Amino acid sequence: MAALFPDSFYVQLRDWFRQNARALPWRGTSDPYAIMVSEFMLQQTQVATVIPYFNRWMNQFPTVQSLAAASEQDVLSLWQGLGYYSRAKNLHWTSKEIGDRFPDNLADMKKLPGMGDYTAGAILTFSRNARVPIVDANIARVLARLFDFQKPIDSTDGRAKIWAYAAQLLPKENAGEFNAALMELGALICTPRPKCAECPVTTHCLAFQAGNPVRLPVKLPKAAVTQKVERALFISNGDLIALVQRTQNPWKNMWVLPPMTHEPDVLEMPVVSHKYGITRYRVTLEIYHAKSTAVGVRWCNPLELESLPIPSPHRRVLEALGSGVSQR
Ligand code: ADE
Repeated sequence: MAALFPDSFYVQLRDWFRQNARALPWRGTSDPYAIMVSEFMLQQTQVATVIPYFNRWMNQFPTVQSLAAASEQDVLSLWQGLGYYSRAKNLHWTSKEIGDRFPDNLADMKKLPGMGDYTAGAILTFSRNARVPIVDANIARVLARLFDFQKPIDSTDGRAKIWAYAAQLLPKENAGEFNAALMELGALICTPRPKCAECPVTTHCLAFQAGNPVRLPVKLPKAAVTQKVERALFISNGDLIALVQRTQNPWKNMWVLPPMTHEPDVLEMPVVSHKYGITRYRVTLEIYHAKSTAVGVRWCNPLELESLPIPSPHRRVLEALGSGVSQR
């Protein structure tokens, strides 16, 4: 496939990247394990949030073998606050599958749990400079603008076309750096409200030439957000607080305040309530006081509250109730 763009595009992008790339803790390493950890964390979570989690993680689990040997509770505890815990479970499971040898090709990489086209490609291109395309939200936005692409990038056809552009654009050499540069351009310049005046490649950008980069990318209409209320109980005994372990997703195997299974009385008021978003729900978590007659709960002291994996919304209400638990 002939290069779609002239050499000047690659040179301008590369020079800009070398001067402006952020120094992120997972850049400048070729360790596929460190890159895998960062990519799992960065799915659905922003760079600034991920950095301290990544550093703590690499301290506690510096190698794929140390992660494979860890307990699920320790893994979930270290992940807590990042949300979307299936990522942590998949990362843990994947580390056990890897053993001593990281896959060196896309097909084998994609057999691992939690490994989609993007994550498998990102690990290979950033750790081995593999000449494989990757498309995340940043790169999709950049490509939609470079090619003035008018279809929704999250439709089946649109996604396929954007991946095809990403493959066609790959340079023969240094694909890893090129992929990182496209991603960084999307993160720093080609943002939802693009800073075209600072962009190194406007002369190659069809949307810029057409005068409409802000209107791209086109996306499918969003699914409506549904409101719902969840109720849970605050049951204390001295400085002990009752928690239960969830058996279902979301938050399977994590610890939460016991669910309230009956409707509250008309006069009963929650002692605290907290709103949070999960998938397409906007949830109001209401907490009611209850007497300590509970059975089947675990009575947790302040130390346990610190170390057990507790999802953020429940951790927040525990903190609001002054139970000695602290936010990450
Ligand atoms: N988002 C996803 N992967 C990333 C990476 N490697 N660097 C910066 N942002 C990212």
